[in-house]
Amino acid sequence: MNSSSNAPTLLGIVGAGLMGRGIAQIAIQGGISVLLYDNRPGGAEEARGAIAATLTMLADKGKITAADADAASARLTVATTIEELAPCTTVVEAIVEKLDAKKDLFRQLEGIVRDDCILATNTSSLSVTEIAAACRLPGRVAGFHFFSPVPLMKIVEVITGPLTDDGIADALIALAHQMGHTPVRASDTPGFIVNHAGRGYLTESLRVLGENIAAYPEIDRILREAAGFRMGPFELLDLTGLDVSQPVMESIYEQFYQEPRFRPSPIARQRLAARLLGRKTGRGFYRYEDNRKQEPESAPVPARTNAPVWLAARDAVAHSGVVALLQSLGAEFEHGERPSAHSLCLVLPVGRDATSAAVAAQLDPTRTVGLDPLFLTGRRTLMTTPVTAPEVRDAAHGLFASDGVPVSVIRDSAGFVAQRVIATIVNIGCDIAQQAIATPQDIDKAVTLGLGYPKGPLAMGDALGAATVLRILDNLFDFYRDPRYRPSPWLKRRALLGLSLLTPEN
Ligand SMILES: NC(=O)c1ccc[n+]([C@@H]2O[C@H](COP(=O)([O-])OP(=O)(O)OC[C@H]3O[C@@H](n4cnc5c(N)ncnc54)[C@H](O)[C@@H]3O)[C@@H](O)[C@H]2O)c1
Repeated sequence: MNSSSNAPTLLGIVGAGLMGRGIAQIAIQGGISVLLYDNRPGGAEEARGAIAATLTMLADKGKITAADADAASARLTVATTIEELAPCTTVVEAIVEKLDAKKDLFRQLEGIVRDDCILATNTSSLSVTEIAAACRLPGRVAGFHFFSPVPLMKIVEVITGPLTDDGIADALIALAHQMGHTPVRASDTPGFIVNHAGRGYLTESLRVLGENIAAYPEIDRILREAAGFRMGPFELLDLTGLDVSQPVMESIYEQFYQEPRFRPSPIARQRLAARLLGRKTGRGFYRYEDNRKQEPESAPVPARTNAPVWLAARDAVAHSGVVALLQSLGAEFEHGERPSAHSLCLVLPVGRDATSAAVAAQLDPTRTVGLDPLFLTGRRTLMTTPVTAPEVRDAAHGLFASDGVPVSVIRDSAGFVAQRVIATIVNIGCDIAQQAIATPQDIDKAVTLGLGYPKGPLAMGDALGAATVLRILDNLFDFYRDPRYRPSPWLKRRALLGLSLLTPEN
């Protein structure tokens, strides 16, 4: 199909709400002429005023020149009827998220635009293929999925389905570049890349909370400070609002036929019913005063004692970082085969819990404490067995916090918090690659730009080591017998072959 016909791009945008405005702004700033239409009378004109004001503000702040702001504004024309979109070379819709409304619009547009005009949808959760199938020429339909706020979120997913013609994605990719955005290609599947890859962080954190392993502020602190996420999962849920995120969690779970990796949490559903939505209602997981999060206090750090620390020789060899840490803390360190009568028994589980580690090593569970050996900087995580004596727990806390690095003490958990949350994210990212929804590089690009994670899921897995991630998941699977933790074939094969998770299929 001839989608480019060498005519200069004239972009039609239908829907002048939050997203339509953002797309229009980056297009005109990228030198593209835009016709903007909204079926609410005055809606597109109002949007034009808002965009012009934004451009003036950017010019006043010195981010762009006044001449560029004026030139960009001049590229934006309001269409008062949808028929005025007839000369467009591409139309992007950003109307309500309702399948029937989008199908009706696309059918109507097909009666107006030329046969070589590309029709793109900004849908987040609907099937691009179902929209295409409603059209006379389904081959020209694709997804062009932006993120909010569009001018700041520099990523756009270009989505094609089985009905999309060759060349359509390339044309949209070129358009994205012209708009100054980074395009990634995805095949039409629920959640595309970003909203699919983003399931792990929230659902696994909600599981940790639901299992009473740690309170939500502690989970947030661990994932921020030990694992390097910009925002904790509960802060993120509060920012997005459970009225937005819970339906997305439920929809993706259902669209993948109840895939256990995406299983939503009853906690979130109940809190949504209670309208504890987050920032917008002043109370979500946290409370907000004047839109400022009220941070609950951390547990005080107990005084350091000089209890000797026993560590199994095998753990000492496998985790030299922990030995170095104990030495730098000046801990009295026991090397014997068995712990002495009064030592603190330190276990270093990977994907296991402290109880299983204590039982396997025939340790006294009342004197056993687990330390997460994979995340030792920023914040350390200790976990107890159900019977660890409070004085042993406090002695470990005092010791591991004695160099000023904060410590979270959690209840027993297979894979602590960071290990299991990161392994879940990596596993889902691997399965996106396995399903060929996107290339490994595009998966990581989409997740870093779209979700702001410190690394993409595949690079995150490489940083821990594919074999380590596989071990965490195998142990979680063994512990819970829950298919949620079954490793993706992509991860398993690359771990077995000692390859980077970014290694594509030949
Ligand atoms: N808000 C986000 O964060 C976000 C992110 C990515 C994608 N999306 C998707 O973008 C689309 C728009 O979302 P939004 O947040 O901008 O919504 P919005 O409610 O702010 O704007 C929608 C606009 O479309 C207009 N409209 C509705 N039906 C129309 C029709 N039949 N013809 C012409 N105009 C019509 C409305 O008057 C409104 O101005 C949705 O499909 C949404 O899922 C939203």
